[in-house]
Amino acid sequence: MPASEQPSNTEPVQTTSPSLAELEHTSWQQLASAPESEKDPFKTMVVATCADAGADARMVVLRQVDANRKYVWFHTDARAEKVIQLEAFPTATLLFWDENRQIQLRLIVETRLHTDDYVADDQWAALWVGGRKTYLSERKPGSEQPAPYPGFPESLGEELPTEAQSEEGRDNFAVIECRVLSMEYLHLSRKGQTRAQFRYEPESKMVWLAP
Ligand SMILES: Cc1cc2nc3c(=O)[nH]c(=O)nc-3n(C[C@H](O)[C@H](O)[C@H](O)COP(=O)(O)O)c2cc1C
Repeated sequence: MPASEQPSNTEPVQTTSPSLAELEHTSWQQLASAPESEKDPFKTMVVATCADAGADARMVVLRQVDANRKYVWFHTDARAEKVIQLEAFPTATLLFWDENRQIQLRLIVETRLHTDDYVADDQWAALWVGGRKTYLSERKPGSEQPAPYPGFPESLGEELPTEAQSEEGRDNFAVIECRVLSMEYLHLSRKGQTRAQFRYEPESKMVWLAP
């Protein structure tokens, strides 16, 4: 191109789409920052499991992410139905949706239950008394009740338990560790959707997918 036709702006214009590696890195960074951010859409996710009657699913809070080792963690009651399901079939799907960024992440994970070890001890120690309150429930989650039950001793009402009272919930506390086998990325846009898969096991592979 003759010099006279060169654009006057010398700043390079970014017209290229992100590479697979960049998308994968950004997705993990967005997941990793979510647990610390009050309003981040990735702070909650759907956990889908296999049940006797077919598939089952529910929302949980994303508690911790290790973007380097590809692990995520969530908390639950050790007596919950999902724990029984994951013990029978430890593979699960974690589904995230970010309305603002129009991004869906779908993670296939291998789960491991922690109830009576240092993993559960450490995460319990970091949980504030308000977070511990639901683990004080005297009644098994999902059990039929003669009347509405709040999920913690009714005597507590809207009060927080003391640190000492909250310790009674430790036996009911479980951490579900999720080793990510693959992550699927989908970005919705009028300009065209972007779908990609990042596989970690059995072998690493990144590939674009038709939306
Ligand atoms: C926004 C939201 C966040 C939730 N977070 C959790 C959570 O972190 N852990 C959990 O066990 N249940 C959580 N729940 C409740 C579950 O969705 C579910 O009702 C409960 O765990 C019983 O599920 P299960 O019978 O499949 O075990 C949450 C629900 C909502 C709506």
